[in-house]
Amino acid sequence: MMLSHRVGRACHVLVLVLCLSAAEDFDWSANNHDSFYYGTFPNGFSWGAGSSAYQTEGAWDKDGKGLSIWDVFTHKKGKTFLNDTGDSSCEGYYKIKDDISLMKELNLNHYRFSISWPRIMPTGIRSDHVNEKGVKYYNALIDELLEHNITPIVTLYHWDLPQVLQEKYGGWQNISMINYFNDFANLCFERYGDRVKYWITFNNPWSVAVEGYETGEHAPGLKLRGTGAYRAAHHIIKAHAKVWHTYDTQWRNKQRGMVGISLSGDWGEPVDITNQKDIEAAERYVQFYIGWFATPIFHGDYPQVMKDFIGRKSAQQGLGTSRLPTFSSQEKSYIKGTSDFLGVGHFTTRYITQKSFPSSRGYTYFSDWDVAELVDPRWPDPGSEWLYSVPWGFRRLLNFIKTQYGNPMIYITENGVSEKMMCTELCDDWRIQYYKAYINEMLKAIRNGVNVKGYTAWSLLDKFEWDEGYSERFGLYYVDFRNKNKPRYPKASVQFYKRIIKSNGFPNQREVENWRRKATETCSTSNQLLAADPLTSHMEMVTEVVVPTVCTLCILISAVFLMFLLRKRN
Ligand code: NOJ
Repeated sequence: MMLSHRVGRACHVLVLVLCLSAAEDFDWSANNHDSFYYGTFPNGFSWGAGSSAYQTEGAWDKDGKGLSIWDVFTHKKGKTFLNDTGDSSCEGYYKIKDDISLMKELNLNHYRFSISWPRIMPTGIRSDHVNEKGVKYYNALIDELLEHNITPIVTLYHWDLPQVLQEKYGGWQNISMINYFNDFANLCFERYGDRVKYWITFNNPWSVAVEGYETGEHAPGLKLRGTGAYRAAHHIIKAHAKVWHTYDTQWRNKQRGMVGISLSGDWGEPVDITNQKDIEAAERYVQFYIGWFATPIFHGDYPQVMKDFIGRKSAQQGLGTSRLPTFSSQEKSYIKGTSDFLGVGHFTTRYITQKSFPSSRGYTYFSDWDVAELVDPRWPDPGSEWLYSVPWGFRRLLNFIKTQYGNPMIYITENGVSEKMMCTELCDDWRIQYYKAYINEMLKAIRNGVNVKGYTAWSLLDKFEWDEGYSERFGLYYVDFRNKNKPRYPKASVQFYKRIIKSNGFPNQREVENWRRKATETCSTSNQLLAADPLTSHMEMVTEVVVPTVCTLCILISAVFLMFLLRKRN
């Protein structure tokens, strides 16, 4: 999220917090007293970590890769923190083996990554050109993962649309993306589907639609307020459904895999659980977030509350039709039931209250839902400004998904916490606390009957964090971006997560407390290594740059001297 937008929202939130606290009629801590639950996960529960192509691969213009909208967006001034780009990022493109050894250290069951569309189809159009070198890279990654018994969970679209498709057609504003995306997915099924059994069509389409086409904080940076996000989402939902059907009719029998979508959403808790308006506002918040995509996919159409609110506001604006597009009845039945599992990305929670937006403020996605977001100032907020640690919200969201969408099979595709840029602290106790509490709430949800099959910690490495550049670090492993070799160092949370995986949960209080102590003990050694890093990179610079330069100079000088002597003789 971009700063200006965030600051605007943060001030709004703060004012409301002050007003409500003064009212003294609301107990902020009411939700915080849940006790810890010791126990283990069902057998076969899958533990993993994740990444995405643009955030980690680097090699943005290597081996025939085409440009993506993120390459172009980040190369414009003022779009990201310190104008950071993902040009080299973690250099993951060159470090398959290194990174898989980190996954082995953690004992992961699965690794979630995404395929860069322009790396394997430079213009995004299959008939133009398939880049075999790009195809080869993902083959090598998949093979190496399987060799180490790590299941690949592959996302087809983690935001890096080929730039040509944006320039020629307007990207997700244009209906033609549905067929182009389907061709790309089909190529992936064809080349990798013999080994990949878990496919995610889209990662967090909410962000693509809202931040890409409504607020413009993300690539392609369009600000089509009040319409852009709805239109993009409409095409994304149809593209998802088409790809699911393609897999279902052409590949499922042979390959026996699953196709799902990964939706992200905050939990929205009513400020006052006895106030009907707050209850409805909180429900609306969740429906405008996750329900926007999940309801068509599980029930065939947009949530009624979105149709009502956006329809009413469009009429107030004097528009003949709603800004929220509609599905024909054929489309509804085509879209309904197109997810073999649901991917869920979740990081944080908000308190929600009803707030009407006057028409003088314009018509936007954020004014359509008539809600105000609040935060409890006591919620821990270690990293990203928007990310407060509220573990119980995770359980509530999972229970909501269970009841709303008929208890689907769920994979948690993202959950984790960041830290601020300057902090090179590998003893990330707050991340340990976050994982411990969030994973525990997921365990409680499973005990309540929610069908969660796997969990993906976000993320394996520190990486490029979109408009925030490298200023927010989500990794279990610290990456030293100043060093051109991009070395990785384990944070204390690696030790902790590793033990959760090994025990498949939380055996008992004594052990879990012991893990935490041990994890924070080991990190000081890694800290020393990291502190020595500038020296190491200096020495590397000396051997790689200074020594060859001096040698070349010596040879040149000797040659000139020799020529001079020879001339003198003659
Ligand atoms: C969701 C996005 O999918 C992911 O790429 C990002 O790193 C996290 N949010 C954290 O902001």
